[in-house]
Amino acid sequence: MRVRISAWLVLLALITFTARAQTAPSSASHKQIHRLAPSQAVALTPPMGWNSWNFFEGRVTDQDVRNAADQMVATGMKDAGYEYINIDDTWEGERDANGVLHSNEKFPDMKALADYVHAKGLKLGIYSSPGPKTCAGYAASLDHEVQDAQLYASWGVDYLKYDLCSFIPAVMEKQAPGDRAEQMRLMIAAYKKMDAALKATGRPIVYSLCQYGWDAVWEWGPSVGANLWRTTGDIQANWNSIYAILNAQAGLGKYAGPGHWNDPDMLEVGNGKLTLAEDRTHFSMWAMLAAPLLAGNDLPNMKPEVKAILTNREVIAIDQDRLCREATRAYSEGEVDVWTRHLAGGALAVALVNAGSARYSTHPFHLDLARLGLHGPLEARNLWTGETMTLADGMPLEIGSHDILLVRIAAPK
Ligand code: GLA
Repeated sequence: MRVRISAWLVLLALITFTARAQTAPSSASHKQIHRLAPSQAVALTPPMGWNSWNFFEGRVTDQDVRNAADQMVATGMKDAGYEYINIDDTWEGERDANGVLHSNEKFPDMKALADYVHAKGLKLGIYSSPGPKTCAGYAASLDHEVQDAQLYASWGVDYLKYDLCSFIPAVMEKQAPGDRAEQMRLMIAAYKKMDAALKATGRPIVYSLCQYGWDAVWEWGPSVGANLWRTTGDIQANWNSIYAILNAQAGLGKYAGPGHWNDPDMLEVGNGKLTLAEDRTHFSMWAMLAAPLLAGNDLPNMKPEVKAILTNREVIAIDQDRLCREATRAYSEGEVDVWTRHLAGGALAVALVNAGSARYSTHPFHLDLARLGLHGPLEARNLWTGETMTLADGMPLEIGSHDILLVRIAAPK
């Protein structure tokens, strides 16, 4: 009975959501929709937040997580839509005689930490693996799925990233050596098992699959209850990694939608030696892809220019757009890629990415509007400068190396 009521609530939420997508492009807040929806509908638009891994890796502590929550509020990121504070790997301690997992000395009291994060109006995420160990070698959930899900719920966890890692040698290769199909079946069953355990807690928990895009996860992710699934291996804070991941997303848009999203991995904006142009392109394109926007930088020491990128509301609005249609790559010419994304209310976002290096750049670029099905002249808003520009067919456009021209066209023709 409960299951049936839940299913109806999800359906109701989706109908309401779709109706709003068509009629009121930007008026309804997705938080209103969250209130309507049970656990399966926790991610009607791509989740937004912060995750500890890209900056802290195994060094993350309780204090770092609290600092991130503080900064999420102080920097205005929360007001801009960021919600989840996600602890990645290395929080785990040992299991006691009853099999109950404890956090390690870096995280003295998970319930208190969750309360702290919740008191800021934010939500808490956590991390585990279907194998015996996490990727970093800490205790994970194999044979303790129900117990762990109950534990997370008792702490007040709102998001789980479930990372394949040691499940590969410990179960897939051990139980089905050389049998790829059976290995994939085992993997899918493991993801289903945790989904059932999470649902049984009765707490809405975003379910994030991390298995690096194997076995076309986008085809079966929704059937195991996933709200998002990684489509790639690990991102790194350099242009080549970001650009390679971006290009690997082309064609996956049809698999994403309300409640179930492609995840090209967490943001590296503000990390490593990325230039501001690269940060801008990375952030813009993750928004074009309707990707989860999980910042991965050191929030307490964030530069104002990086904050300005992460809090650009017009770019975030593209990510969270209610039509929920991922961008498609319209065409590439030379080193420039042209992507378009249809938005609610008939608007269109157009992104021109210059992948050329500064030394060999071949610009200006001449945009061929006809290849986008458009006719100029068109009024467009540049989402990084805030200027209104007129796009005429074939006009020369200057785009710096690894930079982007991102525009929104309210009334394309
Ligand atoms: C894997 C994941 C990363 C991160 C680490 C943690 O590599 O893909 O995102 O969670 O594990 O160990």
